[in-house]
Amino acid sequence: VDSETKALRDLYAEATRLYHHLLVNTDSGEQALAYLTARGLDESTIDAFMLGYAPEGNILYEYFQTQKIDYQLLRKSELFVEWSDGSLHDRFTERVLFTIRDSSGHPIAFSGRKLTSDDDVPKYVNSPESPLFNKSSELFNLDLAKDTIKKQKTVILFEGFMDVIAAFQSGIANGVASMGTSLTIEQVQQLSRLADKISITYDSDMAGQKATKRALDLIAQHSRLSAQVIHIPDNQDPDEYLRSNDADAFKQVLTHNIEDPVTFNLRYLQIDRNLNNQTEFFTYISDALAVIATVEEPVIRERFLRQVANEFDLSYEALQDQIRPLLLQRQ
Ligand code: UTP
Ligand code: MN
Ligand code: MN
Ligand code: MN
Ligand code: MN
Repeated sequence: VDSETKALRDLYAEATRLYHHLLVNTDSGEQALAYLTARGLDESTIDAFMLGYAPEGNILYEYFQTQKIDYQLLRKSELFVEWSDGSLHDRFTERVLFTIRDSSGHPIAFSGRKLTSDDDVPKYVNSPESPLFNKSSELFNLDLAKDTIKKQKTVILFEGFMDVIAAFQSGIANGVASMGTSLTIEQVQQLSRLADKISITYDSDMAGQKATKRALDLIAQHSRLSAQVIHIPDNQDPDEYLRSNDADAFKQVLTHNIEDPVTFNLRYLQIDRNLNNQTEFFTYISDALAVIATVEEPVIRERFLRQVANEFDLSYEALQDQIRPLLLQRQ
């Protein structure tokens, strides 16, 4: 690697070490450590994920000043915000830090979570892009997960940091996060080099379900990965489910609450729709048939048609009549 990359990596390694030290060894990190402990994380997990705390003030900047680090390098690192007078100020203050590592394990960015429940401040503040951090191609935890992914040929895709970390602490080591709800083609391509199968395990709220739909379409279009969806019960995210249940219950969900893409889409089409309203019901049926018409195998198609027929007490023949033009269009 070039010398700038190396210098920036060293800076991030130092920053990670300082923030972790502040979290686990100092009074200033006490509240943040209590926060993480209350969220169920134990010491070895906090270490393994290099979690940190950024206190108020300008502590990272001052630390690098004592080491006489070059101004331009500090600027490029994006660890600081630059004021209009050119002065640099710590980007992360009063936040718990999730360290984002590249696929070889080098820290390359941070995401800082607020400790308060104040709705006026954003929940997470993220590093912007930098020479080290190409946001759209990174996946949180790919470095630690990749051997297990290769071995199991399966990757679990979560939305958030805490989902990955809580799963990891429960012995599920093949989890990565898209860090939000918009999966990218580059991320899919990375995963398709390691795995055969992807389990989309997003939050069960509306945002998560919408993102699941988008992810399924993206994966189908841009990879040969086979995709399945894990549906987390009770409108929770994976971390919340793990906290209110336990590791065994979560593993049960991972192995039993599996939806194939068609089953997911049929359920997704029902969200926020009143099927007792005749117009909405007819729209649902025609949307559902459009989904089923994408299935190549006649036997599987028949299975889904019969399922819809049973669910709504419709005749299989009528559904067959109605799907026929869609199948002809397809060819
Ligand atoms: P969620 O809103 O589901 O957060 O966003 P979470 O992971 O459950 O966070 P906790 O449990 O409340 O701490 C999922 C992911 O989207 C990104 C983060 O990567 C987060 O983990 N995100 C979310 C942001 O980048 N910024 C935000 O303001 C919110
Ligand atoms: Mn430690
Ligand atoms: Mn979410
Ligand atoms: Mn969540
Ligand atoms: Mn959460």
